[in-house]
Formats: sequence, C-alpha cells, structure tokens
Amino acid sequence: MPAASTDGQTNSPRFDAAAGAALLHWYETERRDLPWRRTSDPYRILVSEIMLQQTRVETVMRRYERFLERFPDLPALAAATPEEVLAEWSGLGYYRRARNLHAAARAIVIEHEGVFPRQYEPLRALPGIGDYTAAAVAAIAFGEPHVGIDGNVNRVLCRYFGIAEDPRRAVVRHQLLAAAESLLDDHAPGDVTQALIELGAQICIPRSPRCTDCPLLRRCVAAAECIQEQLPIRRKQEITTVNEAAGVMERNGRFLLLRGQRPGVLADMWEFPTPDSRLRVSAIAAGNVDPASELRGYLADLGQGSVALHRLGEIRHGITNRRIACTVYRADTEAAGGGAAPANAKFGWFTRAEAAQLPLAASAKRIFDLIGVDE
Ligand code: ADE
Repeated sequence: MPAASTDGQTNSPRFDAAAGAALLHWYETERRDLPWRRTSDPYRILVSEIMLQQTRVETVMRRYERFLERFPDLPALAAATPEEVLAEWSGLGYYRRARNLHAAARAIVIEHEGVFPRQYEPLRALPGIGDYTAAAVAAIAFGEPHVGIDGNVNRVLCRYFGIAEDPRRAVVRHQLLAAAESLLDDHAPGDVTQALIELGAQICIPRSPRCTDCPLLRRCVAAAECIQEQLPIRRKQEITTVNEAAGVMERNGRFLLLRGQRPGVLADMWEFPTPDSRLRVSAIAAGNVDPASELRGYLADLGQGSVALHRLGEIRHGITNRRIACTVYRADTEAAGGGAAPANAKFGWFTRAEAAQLPLAASAKRIFDLIGVDE
C-alpha cells in the first residue's frame, strides 16, 4: 500500500506514525554498536562526523579512538599545530577535513570561549561544516530539531517516497528535508538522523537493497514499483581522461616532493613534481601537449636546471572527475640541491621513511611502489 500523505503547507511527503515507529524500532534493535554512538560529547561526535564524510565506517573505527587519544578534547585539538593534526590524519585522505576540523576547534575556543555551539546556524558557520554536519551534530549531540541528510539518507528518502528527481536540486532538497523532519513529531532528532543513516548503510544500500529486511517496506514506493536501483536519479558526471608527467628526483636517498602545487582536493598533499593538467586546457584543445616537455619546463622553474628525463613507467589514478595516466620519469640534473617552490607550495627532500609520515598523495605512494622504494 504505497503512497505517502503530504504536508498541507509545503506539499512535501510525510512519514506516517506507523512508518516512523517501525523505523525507530528497527534502529533500536538492529543498530551497529559504533564508538561515536556511545557518547554525547559534541566534540567526539563532531570528530566522527568529519571522519565519516569521505571515509568508510570500518576505516573510521580503526582511527577514531587513536585520534581521540592524541587529541582528547577541544582545547587539546585547538592547541595542536596544523602539522600535528595532519600527521595524525595521515592515511585517511581528504586532508582538508583535518585542516577544517582544527580550524573549527580553534574557532570554538576563541570565538565561542570554548563553549561548543549547540544550534544549527553557529555550527554551520564553523570551517568545513556544511548543512549535513551542522544538522547531524545539532541533532545527535544536542537533540536540536534537525535531521542530517547525507547521500545515504537521500537514497532512503528518494526510494521510500518514489522521488524521481535529482536530490541535489534545491527544491527537491527542501522537500526531502521536510519529509525527514516529519519524523521529529514523535522521535528524538539524534535517533531519527542515525536511524535513516543506518537504514541507508545496512538495508537500503545502493545495489541489491535488502528490502525483505526493511522496516519501511510496506509503504516504500520504489519497492512497490521495483525501481529501487533506479533511484535516486543521478546526474552523470563527465569523466575526462588526461595525460600527466611526474618527475622523480633523488639526491642521497632523498626525493623531491611538493605540497600545495595544485589547488583542490590535493592542495594539502605531498606529491612528486607534477605540472597540473588543468592549467593547460587550451593546449589540450589544440591537441599539442607533450607532458614530458611540460615537466622539463616545470622542473626548470623549480630551480632544478636543465634535466634529462628517463621514462620509468606509468601509473593511473583518479582525482574527482579526472582519470589520469601519469608517465613517471627519473629526472637527472647537474644542478646542486635546493630549488624554489611555486607560489603557495612547499618544497622538500625526503627519505621514503620521512615521506611516510607526511600526508602523501596516493599517486606518490604508487610512484614509490613503481620505482621499488619501500618504507
Ligand atoms: N555516517 C555519517 N554519520 C554516521 C553515523 N553517525 N553513524 C554511522 N555512519 C555515519
């Protein structure tokens, strides 16, 4: 018997009381025992939500307690240096999260006199805290009337209400939020957020959802129409394939690495010198890019003199919507040490063991593997 009632004012669909009770009962009995569900400390909940943003639960479980031992509370995190925080984050990827978490801790200590904001708006104003995280922390840590809607929750809502529109469109987002908030009439906000997240993670999974175990099956529009796997609608991202070249320069067992050589998700990562293919869009259009000569010019700009390049092999990796085929060259030069980093970048010579302590881009790890240099 699918079909949901709608809210008379916004025309958004609503959960009826029986569906809400079934969902929350399922959450009570089936939820995973996760470390961040055993605390109401907002700092710990914030750390978990930031770590979970782009990292799987299993990985976060291994790293969460370690992070909290190193930085047990907000003042401890705020007092740390950015390098200390990044080092503890090492291996989790998406290092901007660590920088923002650190900046948020400092902002709470300085601007909020160390008192953790409990309301959505001041939380949303903190560095790196978006709509989802502000709502989730307000709801889970403080019981404020919000629902955090992440990708998992979008999937549950689009399927349950049979919404065949892109959930990233503002009008659809508002509809989904109002629909989720209808659960707050009868249930605690933190439980509502976590129940929806848990259902999306355990039952209403992207492929082959486990509908027979779902507490919402009876009124789920997607299940009734057998269109679960077609929802939510996704706007296809265009994937581009590009060629790049990276240079391996070695002096006495130390390798030249750069941090901040490109903007975006890799801004905080250490990489081998690699000219950013995004900076040559017009040349690509002209079809006349030679990544090796581009690399030669780049290394010269880095103060490495004129270099001879010897092809070592190729690695493939992806960054957001780009598939990158990167040819790796050993770069030999007569120039002695030193060098000059591009604007906003840092520059250093590291042994493989020292590099392991840095936030290292996945591509750099692949290159060390390619050239057979172990930690
Ligand atoms: N993903 C994001 N937030 C989560 C939470 N609180 N529990 C499990 N997975 C999550």
